[in-house]
Amino acid sequence: MGTLLRHIRFLAGVLALACMVATATPVHAQQPVNPTANAVQEQQLLQQLNRIEGRGTLPDTRSNVLEQPAGRDWRQFSQVTLPWIGAIAIIGVLALLVAFYLIRGMVRIKSGRSGRVLVRFSSFERLVHWMTAACFIVLAISGLNITFGKQLLLPLIGPEAFTAFSQWMKYAHNYLSFPFTLGVVMIFLLWLAGNIPNRVDVEWLRQGGGIVGDKHPPAYRFNAGQKMIYWIVVLGGTAVAVTGYLLMFPFWGGTDIVTMQWAQIIHGVVGALFVAAMLGHIYIGTIGMEGAFEAMWDGTVDTNWAKEHHSLWVEHEAAKGHVTPPPPAGKMQAAE
Ligand code: HEM
Repeated sequence: MGTLLRHIRFLAGVLALACMVATATPVHAQQPVNPTANAVQEQQLLQQLNRIEGRGTLPDTRSNVLEQPAGRDWRQFSQVTLPWIGAIAIIGVLALLVAFYLIRGMVRIKSGRSGRVLVRFSSFERLVHWMTAACFIVLAISGLNITFGKQLLLPLIGPEAFTAFSQWMKYAHNYLSFPFTLGVVMIFLLWLAGNIPNRVDVEWLRQGGGIVGDKHPPAYRFNAGQKMIYWIVVLGGTAVAVTGYLLMFPFWGGTDIVTMQWAQIIHGVVGALFVAAMLGHIYIGTIGMEGAFEAMWDGTVDTNWAKEHHSLWVEHEAAKGHVTPPPPAGKMQAAE
């Protein structure tokens, strides 16, 4: 009897101990926690199904796709590859321009200013140029903010200022795309006739545009270098406009996520190369060449500038009676 009681007491003790342990430490708290367990399941799901799709309340069922493998490639491209392409192109061109300026300096009007001018661009042409240029500069800054802002600007100005700046820049980027696109169409129509490549361009290119050395190869109204800028503006402008509107109006016209990923890749790469190319144009139009800026500012150029850089155009203008001949030497002396 005594032995039986001892066994019952021992069993009760074991049970009580088991109950205490069970209530004091839940079973799951003892198992090691794997913080990436969900991600592993997600990865397995992706491997098996190629995408993760759920159910949603939005009428457009495409919004139910949460993850798909192409999305990861696209994210890698837009967060790593694109910034590298942009940085190399833009810093590369800036470095070349600085080196060129230090070595060659400003290209001067060799024969000096004649004091007589020739009309080069009408006021309408200048209006179109400056409208497009102003839009382009804001589009470039706001676009670069999308690609580089988080890395470069955010640490400098802090999250609040960066958020406000980025929001305004995004509005500017969207709305200024319309006058910019109009400007590209106008530039295409206004200057097409002068920008069809011809044999003179081959010789101009062969002589390196005369920019190295002192020779000035002949050119009509636009030389081969300017024709390149024109076609970069027309084709690059068309590419960024088309891809930009595909992004601005998602799924419009039957586009899907893959099309929009391609649109973003093309928009980003062409946009970055476009900015790099226009830096070269802005350089030549300002500190790179004496007498160039006034062509787009008041619409006229010095006749000697025109003879040195666009000799065939001057001949053409002279034939139309647009070039005033220099006053006879005797008269000049009398006036003096
Ligand atoms: C501050 C910026 C800019 C300056 C100072 C500038 C200056 C000039 C000048 C002086 C010319 C006339 C060259 C000549 O007489 O032969 C010109 C022409 C032209 N510009 Fe600009 N420009 C600027 C920005 C832009 C932008 C952003 C675009 C387009 C997105 C553009 C497109 C053109 C085109 C297509 C031509 C005619 C072809 C050529 O001369 O290269 N420009 N620009």
